[in-house]
Amino acid sequence: MNTWAFVTGGGGDIGSAICHALAHDGFKIACMDLVGDRAEDVCAAIRKEGGQAVPFVADAADPASVAAATDAAMKLGKIKVLVNTAGKANGASILTTDYPTWRLDIAANLDSAFICIQALREQLIAEHGNIVNIATVNGLGVFGFPGYSAAKAGLIHLTKSLAVELGPFGVRVNAVAPGTVRTRAWDARLAANPNVFDELLALCPLPRISRPADVAHAVAFLASERASMITGQTLAVDGGLSAGTPAAGRAVAQLSHR
Ligand SMILES: NC(=O)c1ccc[n+]([C@@H]2O[C@H](COP(=O)([O-])OP(=O)(O)OC[C@H]3O[C@@H](n4cnc5c(N)ncnc54)[C@H](O)[C@@H]3O)[C@@H](O)[C@H]2O)c1
Repeated sequence: MNTWAFVTGGGGDIGSAICHALAHDGFKIACMDLVGDRAEDVCAAIRKEGGQAVPFVADAADPASVAAATDAAMKLGKIKVLVNTAGKANGASILTTDYPTWRLDIAANLDSAFICIQALREQLIAEHGNIVNIATVNGLGVFGFPGYSAAKAGLIHLTKSLAVELGPFGVRVNAVAPGTVRTRAWDARLAANPNVFDELLALCPLPRISRPADVAHAVAFLASERASMITGQTLAVDGGLSAGTPAAGRAVAQLSHR
């Protein structure tokens, strides 16, 4: 395969797994991250495994920064896949979220995807490519972090809008909504509460915390020809969390089994 995948937030834990999965499927990887060292490390690891990967340092929430990175990436070759992974949760509660924090959440998780899509739109149309947006279960239901959740819910709707408008141009657009994935994004909460994952496991139908590779496999599928009739969809990779919680079912039905 002689086409490139442009992965934002590619130096992060989920982004890195996505870069590796797409490289495994034969894509060349343009790995973009705010933190240059992370993008470089991911690319070095992919090259060591025989793949081709080039790092880019850019802020996905800054149009000029993104334009510089995408213009340089398009000079490498044809970009067929865009994965919008860059994102970060800031305001934990509506009671403590001030306006600057709200703006930060919207910029980091919604503006960033729009800006990258806009920068690569014509290229993806020319290549009949596809986009995968990394959302979250917080965009489907209420799990804290209101600004982040509103931004990701917006990203899920943007996914549908783009799928409908770009479908006639041969471009597919889907989202993946992870549940709880053990990444560095949890480090501060884990340090504050060593039981945080045990508490979350009690809410989840499948009793396992997701790994970055769980998300990456779903992205690789949606980005591939195997998903060529799938567009406008959000695939939850959440161990069933968005379907419901076992404890609620047991309480309603007054069941005693676990
Ligand atoms: N970890 C989880 O439980 C979880 C659950 C649902 C969704 N997600 C989503 O998955 C994505 C990746 O999260 P992660 O857990 O791997 O975190 P992470 O911190 O390991 O990775 C995020 C990466 O994105 C980069 N980044 C952040 N803002 C950026 C910007 N403006 N421009 C360019 N790069 C930027 C960071 O430098 C980092 O390398 C995020 O969008 C997050 O919302 C994570």
